[in-house]
Amino acid sequence: MCGIFAYIGHEKAALECIKGLKKLEYRGYDSAGMAGFHEGALRFVKAAGKLHRLEEKLAESAHNFSSAISHTRWATHGKPTENNAHPHFDEQQHVAVVHNGIIENHVALRHEMVQQGINFSSETDTEVIAQLMGLSPTGHIVEKVSYVLGRLRGSMAVALLHKDYPDTLIAFSRECPLIVALDPITGQAMIASDSNALPSMDLDITYLGQDEIALIKKGEVLFFDKAGKPLHKKQERLGHDMHLVSKQGFDHFMLKEIFEQPDTIRAAFMGRLNEESATVEFEGLNLTPADFLNVKRVLILGCGTSYHAGCIAARLLEEYARVPAQPAIASEFRYQNPIISPDTLVIAISQSGETADTVAAVREAKAKGATILAICNIKGSLLTREADSTIYLKAGPEISVCSTKAFTSQLTVLALFGLYMARLRHVGRDEGKRFIQELYQLPQLVMSVLEKAPLLQELAVKYSRYNHFFYLGRQAMFYTALEGALKLKELSYIEASGYPAGEMKHGPIALLDEDLPVIAFACNRQTQDKLLSNLQECKARGAPLIVFAFEGDTDSTSLATDIFHIPSTSDALAAIPVSVASQLFAYYTALARGTDIDQPRNLAKSVTVE
Ligand code: AGP
Repeated sequence: MCGIFAYIGHEKAALECIKGLKKLEYRGYDSAGMAGFHEGALRFVKAAGKLHRLEEKLAESAHNFSSAISHTRWATHGKPTENNAHPHFDEQQHVAVVHNGIIENHVALRHEMVQQGINFSSETDTEVIAQLMGLSPTGHIVEKVSYVLGRLRGSMAVALLHKDYPDTLIAFSRECPLIVALDPITGQAMIASDSNALPSMDLDITYLGQDEIALIKKGEVLFFDKAGKPLHKKQERLGHDMHLVSKQGFDHFMLKEIFEQPDTIRAAFMGRLNEESATVEFEGLNLTPADFLNVKRVLILGCGTSYHAGCIAARLLEEYARVPAQPAIASEFRYQNPIISPDTLVIAISQSGETADTVAAVREAKAKGATILAICNIKGSLLTREADSTIYLKAGPEISVCSTKAFTSQLTVLALFGLYMARLRHVGRDEGKRFIQELYQLPQLVMSVLEKAPLLQELAVKYSRYNHFFYLGRQAMFYTALEGALKLKELSYIEASGYPAGEMKHGPIALLDEDLPVIAFACNRQTQDKLLSNLQECKARGAPLIVFAFEGDTDSTSLATDIFHIPSTSDALAAIPVSVASQLFAYYTALARGTDIDQPRNLAKSVTVE
């Protein structure tokens, strides 16, 4: 939800922090701020709005910080103003704090301290951390942090500076991700919300665990548990050849990531398909075929786009592996009293692996004995540490807030998993081989959609003046419609509803007229005739019909106001090429309407608060 970056090493700490924040801005961009030591004095700079505002203010004041903490914010408590920008301080301005997460007992703590005569200066929950640090009993900094950790409820990744420790960065975390990195050669040390923000050099990194504390000096990192007992933690080497995140000539990260999909879909299945035995081999799977054969029910958890991938996967598992499978929205599931047994497999889908609702739902399922399989894109993320096993997307960093390549990689990995489960049960080798051939075709299918991007841009420009859309489909195309509508909403702020085509006549059709275009995903052979009837009903009400149909589908073509042809594939895999076309339609609509494509208003890449 927010991005944290801290640095200690050479004098250019402010510059290092700006470089780090630039790679974290996709986690939130309402405001930004920095605090650092300059000649032993603790100073700070804050700015509302995007990161470049903070850069401009820093340039005016030439801060040669020897160490600094910095933050880019997605507002949870308190408006996105400069005053609410992090860092926040105690009353004496001895402690500076940046924070990601939500302090759930901040109201009670604020009230308690106001009663003690403490004056607060912001509307944020974060300020209670700084004020508590300022009030904590005298003693070593670790004892102070341990005291504060004991008072706080909720989720937090915190980096702080204390005036008595000008040569030290202090960090602690609970539920939210925080990485400590040390350059073994120069001794430079950093704290970051995720590894994307770290400079591309050889670094020894450590993930802070639950209620763990870190003291970071130049060349030295010490860890402690919440009682203040020293901890020895495993370090991992992050190679200097880390994938450099750049737009590579595209106008936006989103367009680059859309065009990466032939490669990322290939990366999702390469090295995992065993053609001889017509099945799948996932590397590093800690669960055995026997474990999967014992599975009597599958629950698939996720949020947003990841939930949509789960819906499509659930149908595929039931259809082909004949195992009962239900999708569930993680933020709903975690407050139900789910019926889980040891033979329930929970598949948790999350690109970031940091979505608080998904992680919390997984913990609820674990508490009831479920086995957890994570489908994730970020190694070492919170979800992968909670799961019994993880299948990685291998999609590379997804920077644009709106998920595109991660979604089609999720669908590809889940199709592989469906084949794996089906071949464990009753699907024969020949059918398995046929499915594998279809998977091998996917990159080319997607490439042929991408080659027709100019047609989608024309469509998008033609319809960009409308402010309401229905996205309709049946079976997997209904869930694809949900995802298509979400993309249009997120990117262009247009009201778009994904709906089961068969449901329109039960009420929503009352909305249709010539000002409400219907986008129909017709790529489901099993229900094609029924969908055509639904489209007739829509057309009869005057609604413009934009139909995405398989090449050669003349029935849909004759009905459509505008048609976009999708290269033919099976119903099981059609969501992938259709989604790529739908992503481009949403992208070009947003371009035509001039919205901020990589960082849409009010959004953040990973929602690490509930
Ligand atoms: C995707 O376009 C959205 N920005 C959002 O719905 C996202 O899919 C959701 O927040 C889940 O994120 P995750 O996959 O990282 O858990």
